[in-house]
Amino acid sequence: MPDIKFRVKRQDPGDKKNPEAHWEEYIVHYEGDNLTVLEGLFYIQEKYDGGLSFRYCCRASICGSCGMYINGAYRLACQTNVKHLDTDLITVAPMPHLPLVKDLVVDMDEFFAKYEYIMPWLIRHSSDPEKELIQSPKERKKIDMPVDCILCGCCYSSCPSAWGEDNYLGPAALLKAHRFEVDSRDEGGKERIARWNNERGVYRCHTIMNCVEACPKELNPTEGIQWLKRAAVRRKLLGKAK
Ligand code: SF4
Ligand code: FES
Repeated sequence: MPDIKFRVKRQDPGDKKNPEAHWEEYIVHYEGDNLTVLEGLFYIQEKYDGGLSFRYCCRASICGSCGMYINGAYRLACQTNVKHLDTDLITVAPMPHLPLVKDLVVDMDEFFAKYEYIMPWLIRHSSDPEKELIQSPKERKKIDMPVDCILCGCCYSSCPSAWGEDNYLGPAALLKAHRFEVDSRDEGGKERIARWNNERGVYRCHTIMNCVEACPKELNPTEGIQWLKRAAVRRKLLGKAK
């Protein structure tokens, strides 16, 4: 049975005796070739410390709960096979630049508040709710990329523009605005534009592109943000709602 060493960043800000961040090491035994980082964390929780805190849900790269900073990169713990990291040491830390709750759990409240602010739902004014909204394959293709976002927050954590105090909406929320802007069924352009076409929105993006590198789903939030900037100019020149 092979062994692999995990070095996990631990911190409990609520622990009055030991509130500081520190690293702890654990040896994880496993069989076969398919140990994921998430399974390694389960092992640690079961064999060494039931108090180790981390988030997960689907274990299939879909829910976005297990975004972490693993061996110096943003990754989903459930998607990361330790064999593919090609190392004897797995370091696991919480996503940086976000408020810490405990160990590997960060506070995502602000991330989701910004996401909600962008109105991430289909807005219709004209249609009969009983009638199906048909989309052609060509129209559907336009949302292929942004629709795959699982809201893991890796891009948001990686973006220097979001680290400051300017309350930048961040790449994930803006990618969602793009997703509805390009959706042929949506009629919420007028409502949404005031929320993203400003200094707190698309103009705070300086195309640093950390988000593209961080995204474990290989999406391109920067492309979506640039699309929105162009759409704002088109709208100003042509006076269109969308
Ligand atoms: Fe996660 Fe990528 Fe969506 Fe950002 S764009 S929240 S990194 S899936
Ligand atoms: Fe759902 Fe990893 S547990 S994405």
